[in-house]
Amino acid sequence: MKKVITYGTFDTLHYGHLFLLERARNLGDYLIVALSSDDFNKKKGKSSYLDFNTRRSLLEAVKYVDEIIVEDSWEQKRQDIINHSVDLFVIGNDWTGKFDQLRDLCEVHYLERTPDISSTAIKNKIQSA
Ligand code: CTP
Repeated sequence: MKKVITYGTFDTLHYGHLFLLERARNLGDYLIVALSSDDFNKKKGKSSYLDFNTRRSLLEAVKYVDEIIVEDSWEQKRQDIINHSVDLFVIGNDWTGKFDQLRDLCEVHYLERTPDISSTAIKNKIQSA
């Protein structure tokens, strides 16, 4: 069984996220999403519109997602990959090159982002409505 992992905030879940999750899942047999906690978002300088539990509930409803774990730090990726016997790390190409150091543990793929959609754009629309 090939295990895939991806990381993110997945705020205001949108079709760009779904396309990423679909492609990630299709690269293996089991997809783990490491979902950023509200505290970690603060550390990243992000404030999500939806809280952790709501973001997790939305992801739980996605058929491509097999398991959700909590992302609480930048440093946890190596241990997650070891603990969950991950074969492939995937993330959008806004991160190209940023996680190449994980290649000694597993494959690393950067997937093309879907154009013209982001959580930030949705939040801006909600706030200006
Ligand atoms: N993603 C994607 N296409 C988009 C938006 C996001 O493929 N249009 C991917 C990202 O590259 C990442 C994952 O979805 O691998 C989660 O991204 P996240 O940062 O949570 O979503 P964004 O919409 O990019 O949020 P923000 O506007 O806060 O940066």
